[in-house]
Amino acid sequence: MTIFQLLLSFGLLSALNVDAFPQLNPNNVEDMVTSMSEKRDCQYSAIKKQSKRQISFDPGAQYVSTTGNHAFVAPNFLAGDQRGPCPSLNALANHGYLPHSGVADLLTITKAVNTVYSMGLDLGGFLAVYGTVFDGNILSLTPGYSIGGATLSQSILGLGGLLGTPTGLSGSHNNYEADTSPTRGDLYTTGNDYLLQVPQFQQYYDALTENMAAPDQYEALLPFRQARFNNSIEMNPYFFYPQFAGVLASPAGFAFPAAMMANHSKEYPDGYLDKETFKSFFAISGDSGAFTYKAGWEKIPDNWYKRPVADPYTIPGFVLDILKFGIQDPRLLSVGGNTGTTNTFTGVDLGALTKGVFDASTLTQGNNLACLVFQVVEAEAPDFLTSLYSDVTKALQPLTQNISSILDGLSCPQLNGIDTSQYTKFPGYNKAKAIR
Ligand code: HEM
Ligand SMILES: *[C@@H]1O[C@H](CO)[C@@H](O)[C@H](O)[C@H]1NC(C)=O
Ligand SMILES: *[C@@H]1O[C@H](CO)[C@@H](O)[C@H](O)[C@H]1NC(C)=O
Ligand SMILES: *[C@@H]1O[C@H](CO)[C@@H](O)[C@H](O)[C@H]1NC(C)=O
Repeated sequence: MTIFQLLLSFGLLSALNVDAFPQLNPNNVEDMVTSMSEKRDCQYSAIKKQSKRQISFDPGAQYVSTTGNHAFVAPNFLAGDQRGPCPSLNALANHGYLPHSGVADLLTITKAVNTVYSMGLDLGGFLAVYGTVFDGNILSLTPGYSIGGATLSQSILGLGGLLGTPTGLSGSHNNYEADTSPTRGDLYTTGNDYLLQVPQFQQYYDALTENMAAPDQYEALLPFRQARFNNSIEMNPYFFYPQFAGVLASPAGFAFPAAMMANHSKEYPDGYLDKETFKSFFAISGDSGAFTYKAGWEKIPDNWYKRPVADPYTIPGFVLDILKFGIQDPRLLSVGGNTGTTNTFTGVDLGALTKGVFDASTLTQGNNLACLVFQVVEAEAPDFLTSLYSDVTKALQPLTQNISSILDGLSCPQLNGIDTSQYTKFPGYNKAKAIR
């Protein structure tokens, strides 16, 4: 039984099912949101009731060491240490849970995010395979990638099978790294996509509610998420929101801190992300209004207790978090972008993109969102990979295998390729493609 089936049998995903929602009509978002908000309250209480887990606090099992081998050691950039857009991976490298160099193999990364943050092996395993295939080297003896910029120097990566130097996460614009991130700037607006922008952090900090359980803190972040989305539309003529890096990955920056950076206690067995903990994980010091950012200095706070080991943050849990915002603002679930000037945001026609297999009006039903995103990743991969690997078929295999294990048992509508010509009206898509 897959995790999805398990959730379905608990009625968790089916709480988001067929008749529960009015038809999503992207042309009529406002009506939708209004009628949604009436059903939403009742939906939410249903989801919450069903997602109420038996969680208890076990300080011994949840304590994360920040001493001895795991004491903070600042990165040495002159020596080639890599740090990048993911604050959690940066912190792992600073605390010896990943190699200090910031270049690591995929099994070590999967294990580290599971051990330190209780990220599910399904989610961590997929994210690590994905990062390795697109931004590292899946064909080296110890496949892995750089959590920061392009490198071969500390090489576990080697050049075998690769056509060039792998980009690392920092150089992965539109395949991993996306516009409209919470604290990182849009590549074509700020000139880099991996450094924290202090004004954006300040906005996030202000939006973070206090004295409530972490899942409720996440839900309260919707206006901030929308403000960031609107800001990309208003400021970035090249704003592009792709299927994987946008629809699936960019919600991570909003959902993951509450889900996996929150501190746990008897009082808050579900976690509570207080502002000092939040600052520490984002390499921020100083007082609100006068924050200082030290790039790459992300720290796990002392006396920090992770998410319960028995309640890892899995793919289904993440999809649920994505849908919680998506049902309230359907723009967040659809591929789209500006068409060359600001304020021209246009969504793609999902029917045309998927050759009629998926339809925006049924995207929040059943497993459709997961079915769509993972199949699109698989469909788009060969095209991306021809510029990265000499043997595309071989490079593709681990990703295809992993995706089929995720899709197994979801009863997905079968995608027969996608029509990527739907993307060409977005200069942000063409621009990032041209880099490769
Ligand atoms: C193998 C596991 C992981 C990989 C490969 C990964 C990779 C990434 C990448 C590529 C980004 C940039 C995305 C973008 O531009 O929007 C990112 C952002 C982020 N990640 Fe991770 N990540 C992983 C695990 C985690 C975990 C476990 C957490 C939390 C404990 C986390 C928290 C975040 C946050 C908060 C951001 C947003 C940064 C910002 O813009 O403010 N990630 N991650
Ligand atoms: C692929 O995904 C599964 C879960 O679906 C995971 O357990 C496994 O470790 C992943 N494979 C690799 C090579 O990481
Ligand atoms: C973002 O833009 C949408 C659509 O124009 C609007 O409904 C919403 O109020 C805006 N939200 C924020 C937080 O700026
Ligand atoms: C986390 O909560 C515990 C109580 O379980 C508390 O002792 C500790 O100081 C908190 N840690 C942080 C980093 O706030």
